[in-house]
Amino acid sequence: MTQKVLVLGSGGREHALLEALSLSPQAPLLFVAPGNAGCYTLATGVDMKADDVQAVLDFVEAEDISFVVVGPEAPLVAGVVDALVAKGILVFGPSQAAAQLEASKHYAKQIMAKAGVPTAGYAYCKNAQEAETALSQFTAPYVIKEDGLAAGKGVTIAQTLAEAHEALARAEAKHSPVVIEEFLEGVELSLLAIADGTVAIPLISAQDFKRVGDNDTGENTGGMGAYAPVPFVDDALLATVQATILDPMMKTMQAEKAPFKGILYAGLMIHPNVKPFVVEFNVRFGDPETQVVLPLLQDRIDVLALLMDSAKGDLSSWQGVRALQEPTQKAVTVVVAAEGYPQAYATGQVIRLPDALPKGVNVFHAGTNRLPSGELVSVVGRVLTVTAVADSLFEARTQVYGAIEAIDFPQSFTRSDIALKASESTSLVG
Ligand code: AMP
Ligand code: GLY
Repeated sequence: MTQKVLVLGSGGREHALLEALSLSPQAPLLFVAPGNAGCYTLATGVDMKADDVQAVLDFVEAEDISFVVVGPEAPLVAGVVDALVAKGILVFGPSQAAAQLEASKHYAKQIMAKAGVPTAGYAYCKNAQEAETALSQFTAPYVIKEDGLAAGKGVTIAQTLAEAHEALARAEAKHSPVVIEEFLEGVELSLLAIADGTVAIPLISAQDFKRVGDNDTGENTGGMGAYAPVPFVDDALLATVQATILDPMMKTMQAEKAPFKGILYAGLMIHPNVKPFVVEFNVRFGDPETQVVLPLLQDRIDVLALLMDSAKGDLSSWQGVRALQEPTQKAVTVVVAAEGYPQAYATGQVIRLPDALPKGVNVFHAGTNRLPSGELVSVVGRVLTVTAVADSLFEARTQVYGAIEAIDFPQSFTRSDIALKASESTSLVG
């Protein structure tokens, strides 16, 4: 019987997920809600919000959907997985309780403490007064995080006390509690592990470029580009992460009666001769990491089968499958963003894509819409993620930047240094 699969979300991650699912030998019939213009080339668009739990339930029932894949965090936090499971529908992603690992930085810190997982020391502050008092226990640079979902933008690294006070004032204006943390030195690594409630298996490592400007300058964003695999990740590092982070987290979440299924995304800080520290957990595929991880997996494994086994709670047949961590090629993705992002930017900008793309290049749509006239327009800040798969990072980045040159989207920008250092060196670089 043909699988009917619904993907929830509308970004580049969801376009990449649909691409990987479309290549499954099971040849599923794909639906996406709400999706974007790129997603609609692979799936039937459904006009509903991804976090409208009742609408999702109604659609799944009406269309006889057999499997739901949740892309972003908002529907997870809204409890869409719990609601679908209660109706007997197979769904990829963690429960509402387990999704708190991303929704609340305070909860994540408490679980890490119980699990004995290395992470920065912190103070949880309910209001500005508590935060001002706690600040004196820390030294610059100050790491200040608003407690709640912030699409990667609720974190300030303040070099001075004055900047720290400004960040606290911004949080206070939103009545947001904050977490103040020790600053961790090192290079960041995104390790996305697929989990079935009991075990978590790491996927191909990736590095994300969070700052808006070249050489990691400017504000934090949702991510401006990524590459995979990361040259310094070897079996020894993976074994350490498994033993000191993934296994204890899986055990502790079980003990908390919130067993973790789906993607446990460990944002790690790696420093020579120091064990890896957790910067944050996300509870879903990373964006734009997915746009480099899946293209390296999809030709070698059945991504639909992998996600379904996670949802069924049994990844035992995937243990020891080297293709999950060891790609034969390399991938680079670069985000094409609207001028002004992550601050105010214009939408409705017309984009013209080239008719043909070189082999190995894929333009994942992150925020696009097609007008009745047929024109493609931008709808959010991160508009496209252009990915290339090649034999080397150098070749992949050359192809990506070449393809971006051929895109007509005047009021846009990219970072010019995605994967630059890694393409030149295999040592610890970021
Ligand atoms: P988060 O949303 O917690 O991932 O934070 C966003 C970004 O801020 C991270 O990807 C890091 O680049 C940076 N960051 C967060 N926490 C720390 C920390 N304790 N030390 C150094 N950098 C951090
Ligand atoms: N790329 C970072 C994230 O998905 O949160």
